[in-house]
Amino acid sequence: MNEHDKQTIQQRFQEEKTKGVKFFPDIIYKDTIVAFSIFILMVGLAMFIGVPEEPPADPNDTNYIPRPEWYFLFLFEMLKFFPGQIEFIGTAVLPGVAVLLLLLLPFFDRDIKRHPRNRPVATIVMSLIVAGMVALTIRAVMTTPPQAEAVGFSYQEQVSAGQELYKEHCAECHGEDGEGGVVEGVEGLEGTYLEAINSEDYLYTRTDETTFLIIDYGQPNLGMPAFGLSNGGELNTQQVNAIVTFVRSWDDRVVIEEEAVAIPALAEGEIPDYETHVYPIFRRRCISCHREGKEKGNYIMTDYESVMTSGDYAPNVIGGDLSSNMIRMINREEIEAGGPMPPTRPLRPEEIDAITRWVEAGALPVRAEPTLEIQATESITGTLEATEVATETVATETPVP
Ligand code: HEC
Ligand code: HEC
Repeated sequence: MNEHDKQTIQQRFQEEKTKGVKFFPDIIYKDTIVAFSIFILMVGLAMFIGVPEEPPADPNDTNYIPRPEWYFLFLFEMLKFFPGQIEFIGTAVLPGVAVLLLLLLPFFDRDIKRHPRNRPVATIVMSLIVAGMVALTIRAVMTTPPQAEAVGFSYQEQVSAGQELYKEHCAECHGEDGEGGVVEGVEGLEGTYLEAINSEDYLYTRTDETTFLIIDYGQPNLGMPAFGLSNGGELNTQQVNAIVTFVRSWDDRVVIEEEAVAIPALAEGEIPDYETHVYPIFRRRCISCHREGKEKGNYIMTDYESVMTSGDYAPNVIGGDLSSNMIRMINREEIEAGGPMPPTRPLRPEEIDAITRWVEAGALPVRAEPTLEIQATESITGTLEATEVATETVATETPVP
């Protein structure tokens, strides 16, 4: 350090000192504001954006790929260059040396010049290090296989994920809806007859754990392949669970449990309400095949408008018309538009009844409350054709003259 430099520095030091920014309160004040803003930002992020959910930790899931946060990926990637015995070089030696060098920097780098342009060696070395870290991070991102797609948590998400997986892995032998039958076009099983797995006989006598094990382990001697990763298959625990949930969705007891909460029973003569009584049936039994991206017969059943208007054979529902395609199809008729619907397990009588009554009463988006006037006319005439159901109620209550 020559005299001139020393003087310049002294001069600057004095200048800064007289400008008079004090640690307390000036700097503290700024720090407080910044810290507080970041705190508010964090609270906001947590409240309105949240953290992406990962599946719950599962010690049996051997498919999970643990990975560090992105800012540590370069270290993680570096390990790949030091396999086995020499791993410690990547985990301890190199990072240790780097930290040590940083610590010692003030002792061996005593040049007073600050501008990067005046410090070519330091600048080049640091640039190389940063470039190396970036390159390693990119390499890590590119070479690590993506995490197996997380299956959603909600019942519906589980069922649709399970259905997709089922289609891909199981349908060729067990049929689209678990109906079984004679296997065609599968090597080694050609002509084998498989019992239905969507039947009461199956579903009522097997727990979900049993089904899980059958899928996970397979039944190798019977010709059922193993699907669990640990048994040489390609499905992880979550995926097998999703299939189990899907298989269980064929169980009509599940429907009963769910509906006991979701769909209130209809009173005698009560006109069903679309949102309360009808749509829940569609949601459970139809939209797996009749929704955006899966519109069988181009018929979408996820919203009222589409139920009324979409489809190759639209309209499939006509208010007041009990010969509407939908009514005929849920009554297991085979018509031009297709059917019976749903293709395998029929709707339960109460479900058919609810849909029928809804169509009969005009297939409205919102239930029209019967007005007093109409009821009065009915009890007088007692034979109003269009409101057969209502008439019946009246008839049971007051003897028809
Ligand atoms: C290559 C054809 C094939 C594929 C693919 C296949 N299975 Fe099987 N599965 C069989 C055979 C064969 C059996 C033996 C059952 C029998 O003898 O009736 C069986 C048995 C079963 C059983 C037990 C049936 C019972 O009555 O005990 C279940 C449950 C089952 N499979 C579910 C699945 C699921 C779920 C998938 C998809 C992840 C799947 N299978 C994929 C051929 C297959
Ligand atoms: C497993 C898949 C599946 C389920 C579940 C299903 N459908 Fe379908 N649906 C189809 C297919 C496939 C067609 C096309 C016609 C055919 O091939 O039979 C169709 C066609 C229809 C059509 C005629 C559409 C048109 O305009 O061409 C109606 C109406 C219909 N389904 C009603 C229903 C109702 C109501 C339910 C529920 C109670 C239901 N479907 C459940 C597969 C399904």
